[in-house]
Amino acid sequence: MKLGVSISALIVLFLTLAMLFRAGWERPPMQSEQLGYRGLGMVETDNPRTAAARAALNAVPAATPAVPAGSPPATSVYKNVQVLNDLGVGEFTRLMVAITAWVSPQEGCNYCHNPSDLAADVPNKVVARRMIEMTRHINSGWKNHVADTGVTCYTCHRGQPVPAYVWTTDPGQPHGSRFAGNRAGQNAPAVSVGLTSLPMDPFAPFLTKGGGEIRVQSAAALPAGRGAGTSIQQTEATYGLMMHISQSLGANCTFCHNTRSFFDWDSSTPQRATAWHGIRMVRELNGAYLEPLAKAFVPGRLGPLGDAPKLNCGTCHQGEHKPLLGANMLKDYPELAAKGKVAAVAPPTPEPVLVGETVIIFFPVASSALHDAAPRVLEVLVVKLKANPKARATISGYHSATGDAAQNAELAKNRAMTVQGALKAAGIDEKRVVLEKPAAVQANVVGEDPTSRRVEVKVQ
Ligand code: HEC
Ligand code: HEC
Ligand code: HEC
Ligand code: HEC
Repeated sequence: MKLGVSISALIVLFLTLAMLFRAGWERPPMQSEQLGYRGLGMVETDNPRTAAARAALNAVPAATPAVPAGSPPATSVYKNVQVLNDLGVGEFTRLMVAITAWVSPQEGCNYCHNPSDLAADVPNKVVARRMIEMTRHINSGWKNHVADTGVTCYTCHRGQPVPAYVWTTDPGQPHGSRFAGNRAGQNAPAVSVGLTSLPMDPFAPFLTKGGGEIRVQSAAALPAGRGAGTSIQQTEATYGLMMHISQSLGANCTFCHNTRSFFDWDSSTPQRATAWHGIRMVRELNGAYLEPLAKAFVPGRLGPLGDAPKLNCGTCHQGEHKPLLGANMLKDYPELAAKGKVAAVAPPTPEPVLVGETVIIFFPVASSALHDAAPRVLEVLVVKLKANPKARATISGYHSATGDAAQNAELAKNRAMTVQGALKAAGIDEKRVVLEKPAAVQANVVGEDPTSRRVEVKVQ
């Protein structure tokens, strides 16, 4: 009996010590905030004692004083200005100073420049030029994710030439002559997925151009046949990505989901919709900006498979719900919110139009980013919907006839959902918006006709 008591006391002592010294254990009291209705367990916990350290980590550098307007255009003074050609010399120089503080404070101007010829295009300058275009595109084209807070180079770089959180495709473990076992990229605790044994590269399958469906629940009750349901692999990879998202945002699953049903949008929080747009944004940025830069990066930067370093949710968020705790640096650098010239190679996207009773919104190639003028044109329908509570909006997404059919169908759906989001933002309940798959998805066109990449909205 006595021996029994002391053995249990020993076990209790051991377990208590193990708990105290486990990595990641934080002592109470914690702060918690309820996100859903009572009893759902939708709670975010926060350690108030880390607030000061987190504020210091996310402190924003002071803005350089603004320069008086009216200096001559930079293009009239410098020889090789391709992107910042809408700035005066004053603003141009101020931005160069800011960029240096955000990206290469130690290395200085020469990180991107040949000091004897500032106009020469050296590798880091070529990358930086594209980064300026990307930053402008994020701030002007992805407001449904970054809002007016936006991003600057500092959001990702934080005073380092290489941001702290980047990824390249995981080559998998070597398995000599297929003799040693193959873990198939999982079953070992990986930092990328919160030290779980889920697939350790949830990025390449989901966060690249044409990324796969993030789905666990099947659309049919008893899915039969190959490809009808969701495979175990897809399920595991989805959970891997969700671990990454949670970790990058320092958030619980319940920050976005009611865990009664991870699938159900109606019981999810608004943050899940923001995250949905975030996933599309990261896919587009990786596909349109980072991947094509593989040729421009200095060689040591590429991954083991030769792909360019890319973004994930951590690149901007760095462990917080909002990057830099929601600080708005962009207001001091409005030039970084100017519309980028992304469509340089693609044909321009037509303006949204009202044809009879139907609003038609056009989209760029392989993108579901909403045209800036769309909310203004949609306003006509919003007024109608508000006037008649019985009326419903019907949305159909179309895509061009080129490219992979499955990816195109997903793209058409994403475009329709973006427009649904815009109506929601204008105060129209989602339940009054019907997503209708068009009868002929290929619609009336052949090839890469810009008018085929569109969404049609009607009110009935
Ligand atoms: C992180 C990279 C980066 C850093 C650091 C940087 N620049 Fe630049 N600089 C660029 C890019 C990119 C361009 C081209 C912009 C364009 O094409 O619109 C440029 C262009 C210029 C030009 C125009 C040259 C010409 O004749 O075309 C000048 C002048 C210049 N920078 C000065 C500076 C100074 C001074 C500093 C340091 C205070 C600096 N830059 C730091 C990336 C950088
Ligand atoms: C959304 C995140 C993000 C933003 C915003 C961003 N960058 Fe980057 N930047 C990256 C990533 C990712 C890389 C690739 C990192 C690597 O080289 O491994 C990179 C690389 C670079 C490099 C090459 C560094 C090297 O040594 O390889 C330069 C220079 C650069 N960025 C400049 C800028 C400038 C200037 C801005 C603002 C106009 C900017 N970046 C904004 C994510 C970002
Ligand atoms: C920041 C918001 C956010 C957080 C945090 C988050 N998720 Fe998600 N989750 C999403 C979004 C958005 C989707 C839908 C993605 C899509 O359709 O592209 C999703 C989809 C899912 C799905 C697939 C549902 C289906 O349709 O079959 C599962 C399962 C899931 N999440 C589980 C989790 C788990 C488990 C966690 C915590 C480890 C988590 N999520 C954390 C935003 C989030
Ligand atoms: C280019 C930088 C960038 C990247 C990459 C990025 N985000 Fe964000 N995200 C932001 C900014 C900026 C905000 C703040 C917007 C605001 O002020 O409302 C934000 C806000 C959010 C919010 C809303 C938080 C809240 O408290 O309301 C969620 C959720 C979110 N992001 C999820 C994601 C997910 C998931 C990913 C990866 C798929 C991602 N983000 C990638 C910049 C980024």
